[in-house]
Formats: sequence, structure tokens, C-alpha cells
Amino acid sequence: MKDILTAPFVEEMKKTTANMYRLGWDERNGGNISYLLDGDELARYLDPGRVIRRIETGVRAKELAGRALLVTGSGKYFRNVTDDPETNLGVIRIADDGTTAELLWGFCGGGRPTSELPAHLKSHIARLAADPENRVIMHTHPTHTLAMNYVHELDEKKFTHTLWEMCTECIVVFPEGVGVLPWMLCGTNEIGEATAKKMEEFRVVIWGMHGVYGAGRDMDETFGLIETVEKAAQIYMLTAHLPRLSTITDAQLARLAESFGVKYRKDFLEL
Ligand code: 13P
Ligand code: ZN
Repeated sequence: MKDILTAPFVEEMKKTTANMYRLGWDERNGGNISYLLDGDELARYLDPGRVIRRIETGVRAKELAGRALLVTGSGKYFRNVTDDPETNLGVIRIADDGTTAELLWGFCGGGRPTSELPAHLKSHIARLAADPENRVIMHTHPTHTLAMNYVHELDEKKFTHTLWEMCTECIVVFPEGVGVLPWMLCGTNEIGEATAKKMEEFRVVIWGMHGVYGAGRDMDETFGLIETVEKAAQIYMLTAHLPRLSTITDAQLARLAESFGVKYRKDFLEL
């Protein structure tokens, strides 16, 4: 059996959480990540028959029964993941009942998965239906995106359009736009359901006055998606109070999307 601390999926999680902390997106215990694992790969690092303890998740995710995920812990700080992955991370497997998590590794000292597990599990189900290769759900509090929530209308079409205008490549990176939810109580099944509903059509969902959810096939793709939204929001926040002398027109945005061959939300443009 190989040492799980050397597993590529643990390494990726360490690097990503450290990076997100460094960018100032994940203060204190802010943010959480879940990463669907390949069962055969996992079996090289741990005995799948050895369940350390069972944790009630409070959410029903029958579609994920038997699937294992590497997840960040509730109340744990991204800042501390690299130094102590075994306390701050855990590998859980969704039991046959769909509501129990079997702890296979980690959460030393009695930890449990992120309080946002409902949104993560429901979003995985929604994204897997849209793209069977989807593996990662990432929640974070990126500074400029959050700031933009307070000064920009929380309207899907308008918010997406503004982001697309801020950097030439935005429409290529998230051609489907961003989903937007109003402020809702976090950590609940209700926000989990609402996020998953948006995830049926978007890979990025803004949680009004809270943060962002992103989905992707791997850590790089998911991180890059949120990073691109955050960059656009930063440009917006740097310029929103200044006279606008130039912009990327809707005709230019359409040309970009067509030239890169991406399927974009035409109804988010005025052509
Ligand atoms: P957890 O510490 O439970 O993961 O919660 C952090 C967070 O960002 C809640 O939205
Ligand atoms: Zn949060």
C-alpha cells in the first residue's frame, strides 16, 4: 500500500488550497473543495473495507452511493492544509443509503466534512449529468467578485455581460455565463438544491454577498474558471467609478465566441 500523503490527489488539494489562501480568497475557514476520486486509484493508498467512522451528512445523494471524495473539513483553514492534511482533509465514501458518509481517511481529532456538503454533493450530481468527466466542486470567497455583488445588479444576464466585457477571453472561458443566486442561508439543503439547479446550466454560480461555486474536470480547470471570473470582477471594481471610454462591443464578443467555436448564451448579448 502506498502512502496516501504522496497521492497526487492530496498533493493537488494541498497546492490548490495554499494558492487560494495566498490570493486572499479564503480567510479563516472560508471556502471548501470536494474532489471525486477514482476508486481503483484510491485502493492503491487505502483499504476500502476499513471504515474509520460513519458521519451523517444530512443530505440525500443516492446517485453518488459508493463514490469516494476528498473533501475539506468544516471549520478548517485552507492556510493549514499543507502542514496537516490528515486533520484538515478527509476521504469519505457515500454509503448505499445516500445519506451517510463513511470516513476512510483523515479528519483526525473528530473533524467532519464541510458544512456545505449539501451544495457540493447536489452540485456533483448536477454536473455529472451535464458532463460525466466532472470531478471538482470548489467554493470560495474571492474578494473582487464579492465586492462586485454590492455595487452591481445581481441579475444573471447583466452580471455575466459585465464580466464578459472586462477581459477579452472571458466569453471563451465561461461562454454559458454565470448563474446568480440571491443571498441565502449557507450550509442548508435549500441553498444546496438551488446551487445544483443552477449547476445544470452553469459551471460558475455566484452566491449573492457570500462567494462563488465553480465546477470542473480537474483542479486546474475549476480554479482557472473562478480565477477568470475574479480577474474580470477586479477590472470592474478598478474601473466602475471612472468614466468608461472604451468597451468590447456585443458584436465583438459574438465574433470572439464564434471564432473560438464555443457555445455561448446569445440571449445574454444584444445583437
Ligand atoms: P466550512 O468551514 O464548513 O467548509 O464552511 C466554510 C464556508 O465557506 C461556508 O460557506
Ligand atoms: Zn462560504
